[in-house]
Amino acid sequence: MLKQVTKQLALQGVRQFSVSQQNNYKVTVCGAAGGIGQPLSLLLKQNPLVTDLSLYDIVHTPGVAADLSHIDTKSKTAGFIGADQLADSLKGSDVVVIPAGVPRKPGMTRDDLFNVNAGIIKDISNSIAKNCPKALVAIITNPVNTCVPIAAEILKKAGVYDPKRLFGVSTLDVVRARAFIGHALGVDPQTVQIPVIGGHSGVTILPVLSQSQPLFKGNQDAIEKLTVRIQEAGTEVVKAKAGAGSATLSMAYAGARFAGSLLKGLNGEKNVIECSYVQSNITEATFFSTPLVLGKNGLQENLGLPKLNDYEKKLLEAAIPELKKNIQKGIDFANA
Ligand code: 2OP
Repeated sequence: MLKQVTKQLALQGVRQFSVSQQNNYKVTVCGAAGGIGQPLSLLLKQNPLVTDLSLYDIVHTPGVAADLSHIDTKSKTAGFIGADQLADSLKGSDVVVIPAGVPRKPGMTRDDLFNVNAGIIKDISNSIAKNCPKALVAIITNPVNTCVPIAAEILKKAGVYDPKRLFGVSTLDVVRARAFIGHALGVDPQTVQIPVIGGHSGVTILPVLSQSQPLFKGNQDAIEKLTVRIQEAGTEVVKAKAGAGSATLSMAYAGARFAGSLLKGLNGEKNVIECSYVQSNITEATFFSTPLVLGKNGLQENLGLPKLNDYEKKLLEAAIPELKKNIQKGIDFANA
């Protein structure tokens, strides 16, 4: 029953509010000086639920922190630089957002980033295990499909893994779907509701267009073109940036929205719903993104698979083997 009501509310874009309960949270951004990290930190500096904004990176964080600290919002900003200061940046964090790592260049897949970024996620996860094991952790670093299982394994080894507190940020896929559908239909993208499930790369990104509200109107050809555009939207940006990296501004927006939703859940707001890539038993893939209710302890309820039509069921069949491969790669790396 709760599931049905919540789903209904989510589709209608309705959110119910309860009285705020704490209203002061520490958020740490790991990778705060990078292309995503800087605009993400700027957006988080404007979130009224954040009282401590901790900026960690291997370069430039003192400058980024000094710059942001002049903005007239209530959060205090502190910069931490270099591996020696990672622990201090994390202590006491309620939410940790991780955009650290290298971005794609034209011709690369997200999986090509594995060799560099997997080690970064491993080190940060080890430090989270020691310094803020109860924090809600949101991973933006690519390949997200593999980095989240790596973090899970590292936290497990440290004996602090809680699957309700570890998230892969797939929000940008939802943001893109809302933008493309809104503009195609001539409606405000902010009014579009659509679940995007699966993972965060290529065929693992599964926009459930049949459940979009308002409904995306188009023949099968238009539906397939839009599906592929959403799946390949990251690559569209990589190509347009022509060697200067991948999506930073839209990803910062998406990361700030997701972190904001984690904070609303922590703060006792009801019916906070986001799609996110989490440990899951909904499909054969042990990590999978579906709509989730977020609450005081992170993942409160997994709303499961939305209704899929035959075309979407085929997309799901194509996504699962790729996801399983991505997940196994992370598990093997963490246990090597
Ligand atoms: C994207 O989807 C960077 O993965 C990111 O554009």
